[in-house]
This record gives sequence, C-alpha cells and structure tokens, in this order.
Amino acid sequence: MQLKALALCIAASIMFIAHAYAEDGVPAADTDKIKVTSGEQIYKSVCQGCHMPDGKGAAGAGRYPSLANNQNLEYPEYAIFVITYGQKAMPAMGDVLTDQQIVDVVTYIRTNFGNTYTEEVTVDQIVPPWP
Ligand code: HEC
Repeated sequence: MQLKALALCIAASIMFIAHAYAEDGVPAADTDKIKVTSGEQIYKSVCQGCHMPDGKGAAGAGRYPSLANNQNLEYPEYAIFVITYGQKAMPAMGDVLTDQQIVDVVTYIRTNFGNTYTEEVTVDQIVPPWP
C-alpha cells in the first residue's frame, strides 16, 4: 500500500514538472503580452522604471545606462538584441513584447531623448540569438 502511494506521488511530481516545463518551453501566446501599442506607451509602461522618463538612466542600487544622445542606438540591431534577449542587468523582453512592439519602442528611443536616427526599423531586424 505504501509503495502504491509513493508511486502515485512520483507520478504526480512528474506530471507537475512536465506541466511546468511545457509552460516554460512554449513561447508566450501574443494574448499574454503587454497590450499597449505605441512606442511611447511601451517605453512609459516597461522601460522608464529603469531608464527614467527623460531616458537619462540612473545610478543608485543599480546602474541604468542613459539612452539620451546615445550613439549605441545608431544601429537598431543592437537595441533590438538587448531588448529581446537581455544583457546583464537588462531583462529580456522578447517574451513580453510582440515583435511589432519591440520595433515600435526601438523606433521611439531612436527618435527621442536627443536621438535623431530616423531610418525605419522593421521586424526583419529581430533575429534569433545565435546563427
Ligand atoms: C530592470 C531595469 C530595466 C528595464 C525595465 C529596461 N532596461 Fe534597458 N537596460 C538596463 C540595464 C541595467 C542596462 C545595461 C546592460 C549592460 O550592462 O550591458 C540596459 C541597457 C539597455 C540598452 C543598451 C544601452 C547601451 O548604451 O548599451 C538599451 C538600448 C535599453 N536598455 C533599452 C531598453 C528599453 C527600450 C526598455 C523597455 C522595453 C528597457 N531597456 C527596459 C535596465 C533596464
């Protein structure tokens, strides 16, 4: 009897782990993603907590780089990559933003805070993390 209980317990654990894994392994459906639409709204709801409303970043408990007058934004691929996959203390946003939202927020930061990179950004520039 005890063995049977143990077996049930193991089976339940395996099912639980498999379920958790399946949830993790499947990319979030677009319905789970943040629902704001313009680049500015995305910036205000997701990014400004760290990079600040004026884009100038902050230094304190952590160091949040300034996006103002930032030459690293010249090539949109770099910002796209950092936002999609994260980099050190910058969290990956690829699972919470749609491709179009990533494009919109990159367009927003490249054309605000003193940046004047007006070249169009497209979803084709979002690439897998490795070749
Ligand atoms: C939890 C805080 C946090 C949030 C939220 C956040 N960032 Fe960052 N971001 C960082 C940190 C920290 C770095 C520096 C990463 C490093 O050390 O390379 C960074 C780096 C960047 C860089 C590269 C800057 C450079 O000069 O190399 C860009 C671009 C950027 N973030 C844009 C965004 C955008 C757009 C959003 C919103 C979609 C966002 N970040 C949300 C913390 C954050």
